[in-house]
Parts: sequence; C-alpha cells; structure tokens
Amino acid sequence: MSFTLNEESPRFYGRRKGRRISESGILALKKGSKLIIEFENFFETFFIDKKKIILEIGFGDGENLVNSAKKNPDTFFLGADPFLNTTVKCIKQILKSNLKNIKIWPDDVRKIIKLFPSSSISEIKILFPDPWPKVKHQKRRLIQDDFINNISIILKKKGTVTIGTDHKILKSWVLEKFQASSNFEWQVENSKDWKTRPKELFVTKYEKKSLKEKRKPSWFIFKKK
Ligand SMILES: C[S@@+](CC[C@H](N)C(=O)[O-])C[C@H]1O[C@@H](n2cnc3c(N)ncnc32)[C@H](O)[C@@H]1O
Repeated sequence: MSFTLNEESPRFYGRRKGRRISESGILALKKGSKLIIEFENFFETFFIDKKKIILEIGFGDGENLVNSAKKNPDTFFLGADPFLNTTVKCIKQILKSNLKNIKIWPDDVRKIIKLFPSSSISEIKILFPDPWPKVKHQKRRLIQDDFINNISIILKKKGTVTIGTDHKILKSWVLEKFQASSNFEWQVENSKDWKTRPKELFVTKYEKKSLKEKRKPSWFIFKKK
C-alpha cells in the first residue's frame, strides 16, 4: 500500500535546521536511514505487527522517546520532529542503544496524521510544545480544533494524549481546546494530577530549562471517550 498527499501541506513556522550538522551527525543519518519513515512505505514499516504504538510529537533531543523505548521493548514508538539537529541527536542515541522499536518521522506530524489507520495509536505524548504566546501567532500552535479532531480518529478508544507545558497561556489554551472537544475527557481528580509529571515520562531538556527558570510545568492527560 502506498500513500500520496493530496491536500496542501500545513505551513510549519518552527526551525528546521540550526547549527551545521557535524560529520558524525551526517554519518549517523546515513547509518540510521532505516529508522526514518517514508510516505511510500508508511503502512508496511509501521503497522506490520500488532504492537502497542506510542506517538511522540516534537521529541526534541529524544530523552523521553529513547528512554521510553528502552524501557518498553514490546511497545513500538514513533517520534515526529522537523528539527534536523535534534533528530540527528536522537538517531545517534537509537543507534548506540541498538533499539529496534523506534521509527522517526523527521518532519511536521500534521503531514502524516491522516495516514494512520483509525484507532491505531494507544498513546500520544506532546512534551513542551512551542507556545507561540502572541495572539497574532495563535494559529501556529500545534493544538487546534482540527488537530484534536484528527488525533481523536487515530487514537484507540480510551487512548490518551499527554501534554506537558510550562507556559501559562498555552496551559489555558490546551485545557480550553480539549474540554471543548466532545471526543476527550480530562483525566483529573485533584491538583496533584496536573502538578506531577506522569510516572512513565522521562525528564526532557525543556522541562529542565523550565525548572531552572523557576516555571512550573503542568501535565494534562486527556482520554478518548
Ligand atoms: C520546545 S521544543 C520541546 C522539545 C522536547 N519535547 C522537550 O521537552 O525538550 C518543541 C519541539 O516540537 C517540535 N515541533 C514543533 N511543531 C511540530 C510539528 N508540527 N510536528 C512535530 N514536531 C513539531 C519542534 O521542532 C521542537 O523540537
């Protein structure tokens, strides 16, 4: 089975490339080429077996993605991030640990979100998404009504979306958007639930940065009804 993109690709406003990629990075990209998912073989490479699948969107340096894959060898992980420099870092770690249960989509997740079969993903993790705090940039935020609708289709029933953020404006935005969706319910009993990092997650670069700068991350878990 192969896929083509019929719709216009969404516009991505973040960074795709930072500093020059080192020789070792270029080598890692070559060695790790099989870790990269392509449109053409999306279905075959990914849905070949019936493992539990976790999608991490915006994996950054890959601390959570790689450590989760190490800890859960029977789960399949797909990480999506368009920023090449961090993708290289992540691929290096995957190769070093010889992990067989991760694939990378090195681009905007919105380009592949409709390629997943419905009810195929168990969990989605979005850790410290770019806040785009200015009102005029609201449309650049990843969490939008249509995005929530699209992920609700690919998630299994009772599948979860976990979002960590330290940004005041984005905290309210995320809560508003998910609570407006009839497809999800917020998993919360008391303040400890959103003040504490879910135990399965690993600390990431942006969480460290946030704590260093004395901001308080919040953790929201939304369950598909
Ligand atoms: C603030 S960083 C957080 C990185 C990491 N999760 C952490 O906690 O350290 C946000 C990341 O999301 C990625 N990102 C932004 N928009 C994205 C999209 N549409 N699809 C996939 N990744 C995206 C960025 O490239 C960046 O690496």
